[in-house]
Amino acid sequence: MQRDLNSIPRHVAIVMDGNGRWAKKRFMPRFFGHKQGVDALVRCVQACSDRGIQYLTVFAFSSENWKRPEEEITGLLGLVLVAVSKYLTKLAEKGVRIRIVGDRSAVTDKVRLAWDEAERTTAHNSGIVLSVAFNYGGRWDVVQACRQLVAQGLPAEQIDEARLSSHMALAHAPDPDLFIRTGGEVRISNFLLWQVAYSELYFTDCLWPDFDEAQLDAALAAFAGRERRFGDVKARLPQAAAPGG
Ligand code: IPE
Ligand code: IPE
Ligand code: MG
Repeated sequence: MQRDLNSIPRHVAIVMDGNGRWAKKRFMPRFFGHKQGVDALVRCVQACSDRGIQYLTVFAFSSENWKRPEEEITGLLGLVLVAVSKYLTKLAEKGVRIRIVGDRSAVTDKVRLAWDEAERTTAHNSGIVLSVAFNYGGRWDVVQACRQLVAQGLPAEQIDEARLSSHMALAHAPDPDLFIRTGGEVRISNFLLWQVAYSELYFTDCLWPDFDEAQLDAALAAFAGRERRFGDVKARLPQAAAPGG
């Protein structure tokens, strides 16, 4: 497909929602939906990379998801280990660079080690940057960034947007150009609160395990049709104006 490169978002962020409902529709346990969700993610990374997207950030487990039944939480933590052992080599070979964003202090040692391995193995890759938000919350992120500045003893007048941004969990990426949420809910659910200030928002009823190349292309087509102004009166190129980007 011929594409205007300016219309391709540099950074796409996705709330991968709807796994449980996808499984329920098939009379299967919720875990089955999460498992299919991992496969959908791996396909999505490839599809984004093929389209020239440089950063993909996905919401895998929120700060609030600890409220779920213990069995589901245990299943999700176990799935991290399965996903890393099943897909890390393949993603690494394709040049994907993996980053984990979120509070690692609350996850098990095994999960922490798996994350470390994923980051270490792909640290020198130069392809698409896949940031997986796990035990992540937008509010947590703002607070942890503030804490870092305070711990450095920074005087109040030296705290500005750029400095705070540089201590946020996604400091390695520009702000998302396109924010996608699958699963039909029209809310942010404490994902990237600070970084979505000027993202284009796209909501779809598609349940995450069904999110495929056609769904991605529909989101990209919607994005290409948006006029971004960043507070100005005239349209501006996505890459040119994003604060923090
Ligand atoms: C998203 O799917 C994945 C996680 C939050 C871990 P859900 O588990 O929220 O699925 P639904 O929204 O209940 O269908
Ligand atoms: C957001 O989905 C979190 C992830 C997709 C990881 P939720 O299913 O937790 O969000 P709510 O509860 O519907 O707002
Ligand atoms: Mg949900």
